[in-house]
Amino acid sequence: MSAASPLNHAAQSLVDSFNRRIDYLRVSVTDRCDLRCQYCLPEDFKDFEEPAHWLSHAEMARLVGLFVGLGVKKVRLTGGEPLTRRGVSELAARVAALPGLMDLAMSTNGTRLARYAAELKRAGVRRLNVSLDTLSRDTFREITRRDRLQDVLDGLEAAHSQGFESIKINCVVHTGSDEEDISRLLNYTMAKGFILRLIETMPMGASGRQFQHVNLNEMGARLAERFGLVATVEHRGPGPARYWASVDNIPMLGLITPMSQHFCATCNRVRLSVDGALYLCLGQENQVPLGSALREGASDDDLRKLILQGIASKPERHEFTTAPERIIRVMAKTGG
Ligand code: 5AD
Ligand code: SF4
Repeated sequence: MSAASPLNHAAQSLVDSFNRRIDYLRVSVTDRCDLRCQYCLPEDFKDFEEPAHWLSHAEMARLVGLFVGLGVKKVRLTGGEPLTRRGVSELAARVAALPGLMDLAMSTNGTRLARYAAELKRAGVRRLNVSLDTLSRDTFREITRRDRLQDVLDGLEAAHSQGFESIKINCVVHTGSDEEDISRLLNYTMAKGFILRLIETMPMGASGRQFQHVNLNEMGARLAERFGLVATVEHRGPGPARYWASVDNIPMLGLITPMSQHFCATCNRVRLSVDGALYLCLGQENQVPLGSALREGASDDDLRKLILQGIASKPERHEFTTAPERIIRVMAKTGG
């Protein structure tokens, strides 16, 4: 009997050599983006994946299905900007229908959300993370090199009215960020019922390395005090964020601190890029070329074996602080 016959899939599980159970897959459906955030992509970035290497939606759904069969419970579609890829709602619907999947989310920059919010909700996307660093049109244009703030705000309104389970706003913070600006953003997100998460800039690619992260713990505590928020343990969940909540215990502000306090010991995720490479760690280059194996005719059993081998080789932690030059790929390749 083959080692991966349908009967004993349950016996195989996605547990790595540091005893971490991997139940979360992030899928970058494209590495293209309609923004050029300074900490992510250079204006003239040319090194995008060739379209000939992009997995089709059917190929992606097949790979994601294998992961879900092996115990992945949560999938996030990301990019680049996922809504620049045609037909992403159909892919979302296919993934949402996989038996065993419990949660489907998307990370987007929001520029096209006004057009897609309703169909994403219908397709089964439950939660959205939207990247937004500022409510100032000038600052937005400076950071993203595009004048698209209003599109993002319109997108957020559309998403809000669709009633997603949660909408989180991801705000990347570095030494050039302005706390007053972030405070205005928090005022807005609290009024809308969104959760604001501040993220320490990571040295991903040459663009990311131009920015210095700031330790967010102090900024988070100052903002929490100013807005009457209290530190909470309930909302920590398995993810990397720590939260402050309103007095009625609704999470409002979170910190993602990969630089000042890494959370690798509880990492539960791996990432698939648009060409089907399985990246085991955001901060390491190790990968398993599942996409090329698939294109060369690998069976589901072959692919499952490669996935299990990959998980077994998941690195213990990123080395952003000790070897920042190590990660040459830009964030847009695998999403945040
Ligand atoms: N460090 C931290 N976050 C980053 N992002 C892009 N580049 C970086 C970086 N160098 C964020 C985006 C978005 C998500 C895709 O990753 O702002 O929230
Ligand atoms: Fe695009 Fe996100 Fe990179 Fe900004 S951070 S350029 S929105 S992929």
